Amino acid sequence: MTERDDPDVLANLRAPNAEHDGVFWHGGRRLMVLDADAASRANAENFADLTLPDRFVDQLLGRRSPVVSWRQVRSLWLSQLRVLGAEEPLRALTGRMASVLDGSLGRHVDFAWLAHEVAFRALLPVVVDGLSTVEQAWLTRDAIAKLTRLDAGPGGQTRRQRWEAVVAQVQTGRVVRREIRRRARGDRTRLDLTQPVVDRLLPALGPDRALEAVTTVLTAIAGPPGAAAGCLMYELAKRPEWAATLTEEFAAHPVEQLLRSGTRSAPTAHRFVKEVLRMWSAPLLMTRSARIPLTVRAHRLAVGQHYLVSPYLVNHDERHWSDPDTFDPDRWSAGAPHRTPGGHYHVPFGWAPTACIGAGLGSVQLVLLAYLLCTRFRLELRAPDAARVALSAVPRPLDFDGWVRPRHPVDTGTTDSCP
Ligand code: HEM
Repeated sequence: MTERDDPDVLANLRAPNAEHDGVFWHGGRRLMVLDADAASRANAENFADLTLPDRFVDQLLGRRSPVVSWRQVRSLWLSQLRVLGAEEPLRALTGRMASVLDGSLGRHVDFAWLAHEVAFRALLPVVVDGLSTVEQAWLTRDAIAKLTRLDAGPGGQTRRQRWEAVVAQVQTGRVVRREIRRRARGDRTRLDLTQPVVDRLLPALGPDRALEAVTTVLTAIAGPPGAAAGCLMYELAKRPEWAATLTEEFAAHPVEQLLRSGTRSAPTAHRFVKEVLRMWSAPLLMTRSARIPLTVRAHRLAVGQHYLVSPYLVNHDERHWSDPDTFDPDRWSAGAPHRTPGGHYHVPFGWAPTACIGAGLGSVQLVLLAYLLCTRFRLELRAPDAARVALSAVPRPLDFDGWVRPRHPVDTGTTDSCP
């Protein structure tokens, strides 16, 4: 349901301010809706009716499919994610992140790509669990191909890369379809986001729409979580004083407490993560098609016309944020001099009714990654002064490469400090 892209219009973008209200045409074709109120209203109107399109086969035969609302699908996922946010699934998620970091020890790596790999491979079983190594490799290849396309920009890929991307996408479709069939036959059940789709909605959705639902989540976990993880790594590496504060906080509690209470036992790390998500919100722009005729601040959009919204620019709007371009985790403290705006002025996870379903898990995953980077691993940058963040499709640390090194685990008061 979410479309994202458009790095080409980024160059001239500014967050709305006292002089411009953030709603204007770009190139006469696309309406930029950069103001928080306007974007929130446009999204609410555009997605008020979230009925899924008819199944492909029914479209061909000119008949109606059973009606399914995207809200039903989302609500099943949100319930399942509450279970997936419990201690044991979080321990497993942390273990998967640690094993990707372990696998990179001593190799020269681009940390931004490593962050994508850590985030995606750890989240994959949350979406579809129980896949073989070969099947997981196809899904990972598909995710990497999509990211490469985003990174390279339109036309920036070689023919070979385009061909590999098609193959990976087709294979991903086959793997997920086969898994849905296995689950439907009752061959196995798993605690993941695919299971409730099969158990509760498969007869109404049919195989194609079920596949599309699962691949929507696979696409969603292939971009923003890894981009946020890369920016978290960047901020930790560039700010040793914050890394030391977080290390102290993590050392004060056993890891079990972190896994049990989510972010509550690490309030400073949580503030740090919130600031990473505000400062470097991904994706930078999301392109939306008008599903109904829309009027946005007197600009009319016909069905099918495009408008663009930007979580990043809303989170940098100086009319609502104090000193928005400064990275300051303390702005999230209870006693901070300026109150941080809430609601639709703070949208690292987008807007209702299509806001990210994984906001809670995504935030906890970042705190757990910070835990690993403060207690088990450290990043040694090849050129610390050169590293910087570029704003492209997602915020992207550049010249951010080097080596992952092991650390001696801090004494957290338990024998099991490393999940
Ligand atoms: C830090 C991590 C994450 C960030 C920054 C993030 C960000 C976003 C954003 C900005 C959107 C677009 C919302 C909109 O359309 O207004 C989105 C959508 C979505 N995200 Fe996330 N996300 C994260 C983690 C996750 C995780 C862990 C999952 C699932 C396990 C997930 C699943 C989804 C899905 C399914 C959608 C589409 C929702 C819809 O169209 O109804 N995300 N995410």
